[in-house]
Amino acid sequence: NKEIDIRNSLKQICKKTWIYLEEHTALESVLFAVDLLESDPLFNAGTGSKLQNDGRIRMSAGLMDGDRQKFSAIVNIQNVEHPIEIASYILNEKHTMIAGDKATEFSRKNGFPQYNPLIEKRWEEFLKKEKGETGTVGAVILDANGKIAAGTSTGGIGGETPGRMSDSATVAGNYANAFAGVSATGIGEEIVNDGVAVKIVTRVTDGLSLKDAVIKTINEAKERKHRYGVICLSNKGEIEVDKTTDSIFYASHDGTSIKTF
Ligand code: GLY
Repeated sequence: NKEIDIRNSLKQICKKTWIYLEEHTALESVLFAVDLLESDPLFNAGTGSKLQNDGRIRMSAGLMDGDRQKFSAIVNIQNVEHPIEIASYILNEKHTMIAGDKATEFSRKNGFPQYNPLIEKRWEEFLKKEKGETGTVGAVILDANGKIAAGTSTGGIGGETPGRMSDSATVAGNYANAFAGVSATGIGEEIVNDGVAVKIVTRVTDGLSLKDAVIKTINEAKERKHRYGVICLSNKGEIEVDKTTDSIFYASHDGTSIKTF
C-alpha cells in the first residue's frame, strides 16, 4: 500500500540523514535528505516528477541557509537529476533565483549533466489526465551548532499551465533564519497567498512559540479553506508539523526516535 511505502521511505531517509548530520552542517544535511527524496520515484520531485499540461516536466526547488539568512531557488528547470543541487550551487552566486530555459542552460554550463526524470507511471497519469498523489518533498534540519536550514523540491501540481511556478521556489514555501525553519507543501497558490513559511518564521522571531505560530497559521489556513501542510523546527529543537489536508506525510527524528505522521 502506497501510504506504508511512503512512510517507510521517509523513515529510512530520516535515519540516513541523522547519521549524515553527525559529521555535517544543517545545510549540507538538508541537501543530502532532499537528494534522497528526489531520487525516490514515489515522490513528485526529481525522478518521478509530474508533467505540466504540455507533457513536459519542469521542476522547482528552494533552499534556505538560516545561518546566513540566504535563500536560493531554481524555477521550472528541465532535464536535471537533482534540482536542489542547482539551488545549492546558486546559494553561493550573486543572484538568488534562476528560472526556465535559462535555468536549464545555467545547470549545463555549470556541469550538471542531462537527465530524464520521467517515470512510466507519471506518463500514464498524464495521458489519463489523472492528478496522481501530490508529493512535493522537503526537509528542515537543526545542527549541533544551532544552525537551521530548509529545502523543498517539487515537480509542481501536475497538468498545470506550462511555466506555472511552484511555491517551493519562494519564501512562502521554504524559509529559515536563526530562530526557525519551515518547509511547506500543498496547493502552491494558497501557500503563496498566505506567505506561509516566512510568516511562521517571523512569528517565532517576534516571540511566539513555534507551537503557537503553527497553530495560528494553520487556523488562518482553515478559515480560508486553504490546503497545505508544514514541517517546522525551532532553534530549541522543537518540532511542529500540521496540515489542513490529508495525504501529506512527515517523518521526524529528535535524536532518540523517528516518528511518522
Ligand atoms: N506545493 C507544490 C506546488 O504547488 O507546486
